[in-house]
Amino acid sequence: MDKNTALWRQYYERVSRQPHHPLTEFAAARHAATCRVAIDCGCGTGSDTAYLSHLGYRVHPFDINPFDINPDAIDLCRHRFGHHPGVEVSLGSFESFDYPRAGLIIANASLYFAEPTSFADTWLRIADALESGGIFAGHFMGPEDDWASASRHTINALARHQVEALFTRFDILRFSERNEPGQTALGKSKHWHTYSVVAVRRG
Ligand SMILES: C[S@@+](CC[C@H](N)C(=O)[O-])C[C@H]1O[C@@H](n2cnc3c(N)ncnc32)[C@H](O)[C@@H]1O
Repeated sequence: MDKNTALWRQYYERVSRQPHHPLTEFAAARHAATCRVAIDCGCGTGSDTAYLSHLGYRVHPFDINPFDINPDAIDLCRHRFGHHPGVEVSLGSFESFDYPRAGLIIANASLYFAEPTSFADTWLRIADALESGGIFAGHFMGPEDDWASASRHTINALARHQVEALFTRFDILRFSERNEPGQTALGKSKHWHTYSVVAVRRG
């Protein structure tokens, strides 16, 4: 095995031990609609995709490159899911992805990186891709989050009423707000202001 292949294998093994998000499990457990197609928006290294594929979904994960959080997310996912016929990995952004009809759309810790100026249109495309009875699960960022004003990336920060307004065509299953000091995944102190939402699309 050459050095590059060995490194890939090491990296893959480390990443594949990362668990899927509890919000994804909550959403999948409540998904009663017939369409067993899922989209993982800003999939990162694919933990949620792996979980949904394991549940029998046909999964469309996508992510943008380059992005410093996961600069090789798509390469990693292509490697990770290369032998899964039910997983179709794409390089794409929230704004450009061609959303297929889906029963489940996941956007964990990702959608707040969407381009704010076109977010209304992006959100319409996401909501319209969900079949009636389909479920959206994901996170949004509030204005009091440290990243809302001081991130290397443009953040699509939304007030609570703006997040609620996105779900007028949905029934909310779970809506929680986190507004407290905490840590990043790399252990740095940071104030978090986020909303976690799981909602069912009405017909
Ligand atoms: C914090 S990571 C979360 C990854 C994954 N959803 C998870 O929960 O592990 C945010 C992800 O959003 C992706 N991302 C950022 N901007 C994006 C965009 N405009 N379109 C698609 N993905 C984007 C990043 O590349 C990164 O993989």
